[in-house]
Amino acid sequence: MEQSFKQSQSGLSKEEKYKAFIEQYKLLIEGETNKTGILANTTAAIKEAFGFFWIGFYLVEGDNLLLGPFQGSVACYKIKKGKGVCGTSWDKEQTIVVPDVDKFEGHIACSSLSRSEIVAPLFVDNKVIAVLDIDSDELNTFCDIDKKYLEQTMNILSQTLQNI
Ligand code: SME
Repeated sequence: MEQSFKQSQSGLSKEEKYKAFIEQYKLLIEGETNKTGILANTTAAIKEAFGFFWIGFYLVEGDNLLLGPFQGSVACYKIKKGKGVCGTSWDKEQTIVVPDVDKFEGHIACSSLSRSEIVAPLFVDNKVIAVLDIDSDELNTFCDIDKKYLEQTMNILSQTLQNI
């Protein structure tokens, strides 16, 4: 398998980049059965396509989220349900866009370089089994377009995981 997620046409809008990403992403994970590998490749593909500062999964384990596959610098191992942006996304079962992490009460700073963030839940059989956390080292990186397409990415991932 050789697949590059690097965006060759730099003139594309964010929406066009996500559309191209989604098509390639389907091919990347289709028919695969190695859950850890799929999650790891998901973070690598997002990193390659968009270059965000930190991309990773936190996996639901009891009342906590535990650090899973990621791309970026070392991060917190454990986040309690309802805590930080990740724990809040899990608790509320919704995507959270944070334009400025300093203005999100209870934000957990794994890196002082993180300035904005988006967290999207991953559902399997209507239950949150993980969250996808993406950090940017710039303010206001994420908007409704990121929300829409990252949720779509999580839906595609969910369908593949459902069959494992
Ligand atoms: N900022 C997250 C913690 C995880 S790190 O960003 C990798 C939060 O507030 O939940």
